[in-house]
Order: sequence, then C-alpha cells, then structure tokens
Amino acid sequence: MKGIILAGGRGERLFPITRAISKQLLPVYDKPMVFYPLCSLMRCGIREVLIITRPDEVERFRELLSDGTQWGMEISYAAQSAPGGIAEAPLIAADFLGEEPFALALGDNIFCGIEFDSCLDRAVAEHDGATVFVKQVEHPERYGVISFDGDGVPQKIVEKPTEPASPFAVTGLYLYDNAAIAMARALKPSVRGEIEITEINDQYLRQSRLSVVQLPDSVSWLDMGTPQGLLEASRLVEAEQRTPGVRIGVPEQVALRSGWIDSEAAMRIAASYGDNDYGRYLRQLVESG
Ligand code: TTP
Repeated sequence: MKGIILAGGRGERLFPITRAISKQLLPVYDKPMVFYPLCSLMRCGIREVLIITRPDEVERFRELLSDGTQWGMEISYAAQSAPGGIAEAPLIAADFLGEEPFALALGDNIFCGIEFDSCLDRAVAEHDGATVFVKQVEHPERYGVISFDGDGVPQKIVEKPTEPASPFAVTGLYLYDNAAIAMARALKPSVRGEIEITEINDQYLRQSRLSVVQLPDSVSWLDMGTPQGLLEASRLVEAEQRTPGVRIGVPEQVALRSGWIDSEAAMRIAASYGDNDYGRYLRQLVESG
C-alpha cells in the first residue's frame, strides 16, 4: 500500500497564523504537525509516501522531510495548484499510485492511543474496497457524518450536515483500492466548489464495499485546523508524553520498530539533534533496544 498526505488547503480557520505558512508545518507541542499523519501512515506499514502541498510550500516540506531515506522510506512531493477539495488527492497522485491501493491521511489530523495500532493492523490486513475510521464527537456537523440503521449497518455519509443523523464523524484517514481514482475523476464540484471525499466514501458505501472501523474511546482524534484543535493537540501530546518512555509522532521510532532503519542510522539522526530533548529521546530509544 502507498500513502498520501494532503497538506495543502487554505487554512482559513487558522488565519492569520496560516497567512504566511502552511498549517501542517506549525508546531504541535514538540514536532511539526505533519509528523503526526506521517506516523499514522508509517504505522500502517507504508514506506512510500507522496506529500501534496501548496505550490509555494513544496520546498519547505522537502527541507523538513527530505526524500525519506533517513527513515528507510521514499517520500516524494506534488503541488496542488488550488485547493479544489480533498478528493483531488487521488487525481494528483494518480501516477505515483499506479495500480496500488493507498491510504490517504489529512495533514491536520492526529490520532493517539495504544489501541490505534491494533485498529490499523486489522484494517490494513482486512482491507478491501474502502475503509474509514469513525469517532463519536460533540460537533458532528463540522465533519462528514455517517449514520447506521438499528443493526449497526452503515446507511449514508453526508458532508457537514446541518442536522446530523448520528454523532459519528468520519476521521481524516482513509484506505482505498485503486477504483477511488476513477471515482474521483467522475466527481463534480459541490456547492462549496470542491470535489468531496465524502462522495467517494458514500459511493463505496452504496456498493457495499465500505468498511467502517469505529475507533475505541481510548483512541483520541483531533482536527488541528482550528485554534482550539491546535491547542488541544499540543496539550494531548504533552500529556501523553509525560509518561516516561512515551512519545507520539516520532518517525524514527516507527522506522526503528518496523526494522526500516538500524540503530546506527537512528543514532546518526539523534546526533543531528545535539543534546536537545528529541535527540536524547532517540538515544534512549536505541539504548533501550
Ligand atoms: P480542511 O481543514 O478541510 O481545509 P483547509 O486546510 O483548507 O482549512 P480551512 O477550512 O480552515 O480553510 O482540509 C483538511 C486537510 O486537507 C488539511 O490538511 C488541508 C488539506 N487540503 C488540501 O490539501 N487541499 C484541499 O483542496 C483541501 C480542501 C484540503
């Protein structure tokens, strides 16, 4: 499976913070925001990732993430000329994807909790058609909302409904087979002028090819695209990392545990951080085996 991180967009909800910088480069506690969705993809076992950004930000992302070889990965970059919707991702990525299935991660979504890994493992192993991860939220009207019948069978997905039929939001991590590219090609822009990922998910649902994974209460999910979400995410990461030995969103950790890099490579990266907290954590990680 290949991976896409969608890290363009307007970032209007964060203006003026995002007037001169992409939201996905902003700090979320001790790391740039994009590290978190990158780690979500890495935890799916994905080593080939395409980062889609605004044209003027491609080089800045490249400076941060390089070509991925430092983590035993291949990271490449593509520009989205204007924010035409999340469903543009498979179109921009079509050459990169070829015939492969893929995971799409929104660049401003963070997931956290030990049970998240097992949810991902199962979803990737059983993946067929499309898979969405849903979470019960207080304000479903801000997201794509999925409704279920009395037997728990998914019925419909509606983008930002004024009267949500359920409290279940579709989160920003999706798994697709290659058919999603053709579906995206056939989409027409919605009233807000975007092609909508919700329409693709709803098509899979209507074809009975959508798997819905309900994230357990122990897994936190945040959209970091609002001032509140951004602050809450920093607080969440800081609180989790108070437990000794726990770090969230550390690509070196996932790469090391997955056997994509060895201890020497991790130590080299640690040395590049000098004696700061991140570097010390990487050294501890290697030393603790
Ligand atoms: P959103 O948060 O829905 O959109 P946005 O980032 O433009 O923010 P705002 O509503 O505040 O203006 O996007 C979710 C993620 O997808 C985020 O990482 C940005 C990215 N995105 C793109 O890269 N291209 C797009 O065309 C859109 C709509 C979103």
